[in-house]
Amino acid sequence: MKRLYSNELKEHIGEEVLIQGFLFQKRIMGNINFLLIRDKFGIVQCVVKDKDQIEILKDVMDESVLEITGNCVEEKRSSIGVEIHNPKVNIISKVKYPLNIEINKPIINANIDTILDNRAISLRSPLIRSVFNIQAQMAKAFREFADKNGSKEIFIPTIVGSATEGGSELFEIKYYDKKAYLGQSGQLYKQMMVGVFERVYAISHSYRAEKFGTSRHTSEFIQYEFEMGFIKDYMDVINFGIDIIRYIKDSVEKENIEDLKIINKELPLIPKNIPIMKLKEAQDLIFEKENIDHRGEKDLSPEDEKLISKIIKDLYKSDLVVITHYPTSKRPFYTMPDPQNPEETLSFDFILRGLEILTGSQRIHEYEQLILAIEKKGLDPKNYEDYLEIFKYGMPHEGGFGMGFERLTQQFLSLSNIREATLFPRDVKRITP
Ligand code: 4AD
Ligand code: MG
Repeated sequence: MKRLYSNELKEHIGEEVLIQGFLFQKRIMGNINFLLIRDKFGIVQCVVKDKDQIEILKDVMDESVLEITGNCVEEKRSSIGVEIHNPKVNIISKVKYPLNIEINKPIINANIDTILDNRAISLRSPLIRSVFNIQAQMAKAFREFADKNGSKEIFIPTIVGSATEGGSELFEIKYYDKKAYLGQSGQLYKQMMVGVFERVYAISHSYRAEKFGTSRHTSEFIQYEFEMGFIKDYMDVINFGIDIIRYIKDSVEKENIEDLKIINKELPLIPKNIPIMKLKEAQDLIFEKENIDHRGEKDLSPEDEKLISKIIKDLYKSDLVVITHYPTSKRPFYTMPDPQNPEETLSFDFILRGLEILTGSQRIHEYEQLILAIEKKGLDPKNYEDYLEIFKYGMPHEGGFGMGFERLTQQFLSLSNIREATLFPRDVKRITP
């Protein structure tokens, strides 16, 4: 007999079927055992009345791998519409040890550290697994949209010779007899590749030695990297960013119906018109509406990000807001200054539900200007020779962004900690599992 998955059983009512999966829960009620069997799509209930079968199951513990044949019977109260009667159980792998963490409850009663210490098992919980089902769909949607819109997927090295985003949080590694670093961002490589493919993207690892264990930073994370050439200006990049986030949301809404039910959270509101404003305007708005005066600050603090999101949500029913024109002094060397006011840049952050999820900009595309910008940051153009090469020999107006892969999941699903959106998080204290 061919194995059927839980989501296929509805089509097989009245038939003898074969299922395989993990023993999610065993409930004993008098002379009846109820087995809940979990496969990759859902949970199947089996009703065991036969004495011999109950005997076989007596010392089988949670998460044992079972193969079951039985009658597929309609059961309206079950989430999958059926249950299995008269099951015959074959034990594929018998668990003999109790779990360190209870995963078969609607809410996991453990703190984040316990959940992460027991990661391989906690991930089996339908609640936690759903996060990563959705994350996988988000990545698929990102690729789909980028592909449909004329971008080429590229693969970027993460062992590098120099910093891109400023030096302080660089991981240094021993590289034969030299020093090397773990890449903070695919920045320089995606820019170089604009000179080749014009429009590129990558889903690529980034590393930063973040010294503090915040709920939004890890040492290893993934970025949705995107870069496009032949733009009119930075607004082309902003619009692409908004469109791709909206596409990802629509895709999850369509493809992850069951997961969203399990997680029981609303996806963010991404209306047709997304508010876009300068940093200064955002600070004015925070002052006007909340009477908190951060005017003149060179960046939004985490508190400001929350405030501006709240204000925008009230005014425009949008969970997303785009902030532009961060000061030149606070942005990396490759960022294009605003020709109208070189103290400001044609850069932007996307704030989703109170957290920065994306940073991007128009880039400097002229060789001489780029060398000056590198020097102005106190860096040595010699360390960027290979990168500079592509600008020496012709680059169009271009721009792009890096979007936090885990942060986007975190904010889509209103998770309180980025680690809940990371399969195996690394931070200042954690490098296992
Ligand atoms: O804002 P960041 O540092 O920008 C860059 O890396 C640029 N190269 C982007 C560009 O194309 N101009 O990082 C981009 C995004 C952030 O908005 C955030 O979502 C995420 O990456 N991020 C982190 N996520 C988890 N842990 C960390 N330590 C992160 N640092 C940045
Ligand atoms: Mg940023």
